[in-house]
Amino acid sequence: MAGDLKPLGLDPACIFVGGQWRAPESGESLPLIDPSDGTEICRIARGGAADVEAAIAAAEVALAGEWGRATAAERGRLLATIGRAVLEHVDELARLEAQDVGKPLTQARNDVIALARYLEFYGGAADKIHGETIPYLDGYTVYTLREPHGVTGHIIPWNYPMQIIGRSIGAALAMGNACVLKPAEEACLTALAFAEIAHRAGLPAGALNVVPGLGAEAGAALAGHPGIRHMSFTGSVGVGKLIQKAAAENVVPVTLELGGKSPQLVFDDADIDAALPFLVNAGIQNAGQTCSASSRILVQRGVYDRVVDAMAAKYRGLRAGPAMIDLEVGPLVSARQKEIVEGFLAKGADLTVAARGFVMDEAPVGGAYVAPVLFTAVNSTHILAQNEIFGPVQVIIPFDTEEEALAIANGTDYGLVASVWSESGARQMRLAKRLRAGQVFVNNYGAGGGVELPFGGTGISGHGREKGFEALYGFSSLKTVAAKHD
Ligand code: NAI
Ligand code: MG
Repeated sequence: MAGDLKPLGLDPACIFVGGQWRAPESGESLPLIDPSDGTEICRIARGGAADVEAAIAAAEVALAGEWGRATAAERGRLLATIGRAVLEHVDELARLEAQDVGKPLTQARNDVIALARYLEFYGGAADKIHGETIPYLDGYTVYTLREPHGVTGHIIPWNYPMQIIGRSIGAALAMGNACVLKPAEEACLTALAFAEIAHRAGLPAGALNVVPGLGAEAGAALAGHPGIRHMSFTGSVGVGKLIQKAAAENVVPVTLELGGKSPQLVFDDADIDAALPFLVNAGIQNAGQTCSASSRILVQRGVYDRVVDAMAAKYRGLRAGPAMIDLEVGPLVSARQKEIVEGFLAKGADLTVAARGFVMDEAPVGGAYVAPVLFTAVNSTHILAQNEIFGPVQVIIPFDTEEEALAIANGTDYGLVASVWSESGARQMRLAKRLRAGQVFVNNYGAGGGVELPFGGTGISGHGREKGFEALYGFSSLKTVAAKHD
């Protein structure tokens, strides 16, 4: 592994602060595990409060210097340059992410391309976001300015490090903030690699600082630090609540993206052949460890058997194996995540299994593999139909009427995304309005990732919007200037 990291110029046992690699104050390290076989990839820094303090100080220096003075056009150009530099390293980054997350290589490669696309998009947007002039009383000129918050905190999970860096760090930098990033202890190599790539591409020292470490240590220190003027968090509901409480102490805004239990509604009049790949892929992509995974498939009675049979046939062909073998499904990110998912499966012992995929014989025994499982005829109140499982598990729920489908779809505490499969335009429009979700898809699921499309949840899925132009509003603060003159 050390050899693979050299071309990327990163030292995994270090934190990246003020444009430099340095040992964490603790002098301690944590093991980073390859979930494909359970072996140690390398040691990573165990960052803590002192490191977070140093990172925030470095970010403040950046804001007071060259980075803070950069024009919007300069920031945009730089982000576009960093995006191109990311693509120059597409192979190394894809391998790193595949090994670290356990993500099949093709999926990891798509994440690198998405990161580059975010930087291209936010690079292009940086100088196209502006305030307004507001007609007011005679003798006044009023206008608004969009200003950066200052130092922004970013606590990200292990499931899509590169994509989340793209949407979060990309938008924050576009608006002129300086960032402190705390990647997940399960997977942080691409975050570190990205910091070095951005640095080499010309990002001023301190504009992006990365402090790996444990959630309860580096994460909590960052979330509670009064120097952070905006906090962006993606992860579990439980930690999301802690982040919001910590931000409340410092009265700073937060963006929380906390996952979901997202449904796809399949009606009798749907184009089932078109729906089928989306129904399955949205559940098993990244082994189901996706905030916007579709873990509930609601199917109308008239096509129920057909959909169950067709999905079951696909499930029987799903293979789980090492990330580098690049099958449909990789291992889960960790032995702990495997335990969480197996815990849910044990609670589903009373359910009917429509089909299972399988773990390949050549998958190492030390890997965190779970064979994909499709449950059928599930009651919408069952624990597996209510809770985010974060594994390759989907439940199919039957329904009779549109009203019933809507009630089931809206009947969890989550509300991230949803989709409607139907040829009726009126139904599409009705449900798009009435589904409780931050994104609704009609006759598709996920819209291919959609860097341009605002994304976020309602209910316990969180609040605030990332992606698209909307994120730029979140990563900036609006100032109204009212000038009186005669
Ligand atoms: P987590 O919420 O504990 O971890 C996410 C990030 O938060 C990591 O960087 C972690 O170090 C950090 N963190 C943990 N405790 C913290 C604290 N006290 N203060 C500040 N930061 C802290 O999620 P975890 O434990 O990895 O996964 C558990 C479950 O959470 C999953 O099974 C899944 O249901 C959900 N999850 C949802 C994600 C999403 O994309 N919305 C991503 C990851 C997990
Ligand atoms: Mg946790």
